[in-house]
Amino acid sequence: MKRIVSNIDTTSGEFVQNKENFLEIRDAYHEKLKEVIHGLRADAVKKHKAKGKLLARERIDLLIDEKTPFLELSTLAAYGMYDNNFPSAGVVTGIGVIHGKETVIIANDATVKGGTYIEEGIKKHIRAQEIALQNKLPCVYLVDSGGVFLPEQAKVFPDRFHFGRLFYNQAKLSAMQVPQISVVMGSCTAGGAYIPAMSDETIIVKNQGTIFIGGPPLVKAATGETITAEELGGALVHTSESGVADHLAEDEGEALRICRDILSTYTPDRQKIDRIPIEEPAYSAEELYGLAPVNLRKSIDAREIIARIVDGSYFHEFKKNYAPTLITGFAHIMGYPVGILANKGVLFSESSLKGAHFIQLCCQRKIPILFLQNITGFIVGKKYEHQGIARDGAKLVHAVANASVPKITVIIGGSFGAGNYAMAGRAFDPNLLFMWPNAKISVMGGEQAAKVLAQIKYENLPDDDPKVMELKRPVIEKYEKEGAAIYSTARLWDDGIIDPADTRKVVAMGIAMSLNRKYGKPSFGVFRM
Ligand code: COA
Repeated sequence: MKRIVSNIDTTSGEFVQNKENFLEIRDAYHEKLKEVIHGLRADAVKKHKAKGKLLARERIDLLIDEKTPFLELSTLAAYGMYDNNFPSAGVVTGIGVIHGKETVIIANDATVKGGTYIEEGIKKHIRAQEIALQNKLPCVYLVDSGGVFLPEQAKVFPDRFHFGRLFYNQAKLSAMQVPQISVVMGSCTAGGAYIPAMSDETIIVKNQGTIFIGGPPLVKAATGETITAEELGGALVHTSESGVADHLAEDEGEALRICRDILSTYTPDRQKIDRIPIEEPAYSAEELYGLAPVNLRKSIDAREIIARIVDGSYFHEFKKNYAPTLITGFAHIMGYPVGILANKGVLFSESSLKGAHFIQLCCQRKIPILFLQNITGFIVGKKYEHQGIARDGAKLVHAVANASVPKITVIIGGSFGAGNYAMAGRAFDPNLLFMWPNAKISVMGGEQAAKVLAQIKYENLPDDDPKVMELKRPVIEKYEKEGAAIYSTARLWDDGIIDPADTRKVVAMGIAMSLNRKYGKPSFGVFRM
């Protein structure tokens, strides 16, 4: 394979300025991360620790193999919402390695309103289960939760993707032979009782874990019976009388060891892939900071980004001289083969055809696909409509939706309009979707949306008319706020924000976890010719 030769002057004023602007955005993101991870309410942490309990992230550290990374998902979920009273939406989720096997971990954070579920917490829990389902990964629940956050009941209880979906998903995962283990380290009340009860095996910590459909106050109100939580549904009751749990643990450390032992008995039916020795890119990942599209009006050659992500900067480009606004080609990331689609401008008919063709190649060769999104959308105008841009764009959208190999999407710049769909946006079920901190996502840019709305309302007025300007200003401001990566990640439109320098590792982990199931055979629908 040929190496990409970079044409970037890393000493140029433009590069240095971009890096400075980017680092400001990145540092603000790191500050928010710190705030969420280390800023848990001191009184709640003190109370929690006084019970001899570990924090959610400490539990995960003990559960996973030593010196292995934990790919935490959506750490900034619910950021800027609920007066920031729900750090990480009250639940820590991610992918960790246990006995060398990638495992989805879902851990309630009981220091956040008793580990109760708000809308974003439920979305996060369901998303982690979807990842387990899509990749056939075992799933561990570290349960310590008071169930639904009662004041928000209308947003968390009745609908299809609300609290009930957690248990529906458990049944579906189980039927797909995905192992699920619960470690009960605190409360599992009401619906929450089904999490351990629907798991393959459940461990419960003595004098700490409780499982019941109705807690002591409810029992008292309903039947007049007075009983303690331990007597009603403590560890001894469930491991020796009811059979709701299978293993009694003296403390959290033992509970986590038992969980690890259980997972050592499971063998995934893995997809074979030719992994080659890892080679670092020929160009430093730090240079991505000078390249990350901070100013979305400025065009960037995606090959420069690819050169700083793939092994040895080797890239076997496909159709290099045809449809140059979509770059396609094969490479390796941390030794894993990968097919890459990356934007270098708007999508034309030819770019769509090239993309669909390339996706078919990846599916036939069983090579996972990486989408590097930086896209303003499809080309518009009479000429292109008459040539059938909608028909050709549809082919790419078909191919993306039905690709039989794993898809990993990283939004490195803009993600606007149908370009988001054609490049494996959230609705197209990529196995993982991450944003760089500078990335922006919305149906169109704020300026364009404001222009469209002004055109509809004041067709005959010039752009600088005060009425037009008054209409446009709040639209632009709204799009600016709602399009930011932090707004997206708070609402779980992505799996998290990543530092560009970590892209290689994150993509490699995504590919590694996708190997826990056999990739399917390619099967596409009707391509309108
Ligand atoms: N809805 C809303 N808030 C809840 C809640 C719920 N279901 N459960 C707990 N909280 C809040 C508490 O009000 C408290 O908030 P604060 O810190 O701002 O005062 C915080 O969570 C911690 O609760 P607390 O009771 O002080 O902690 P604890 O460790 O002693 O007990 C529970 C935790 C979860 C065992 C206990 O709060 C409880 O039993 N909650 C009710 C559970 C329930 O019946 N759920 C049914 C819903 S499906």
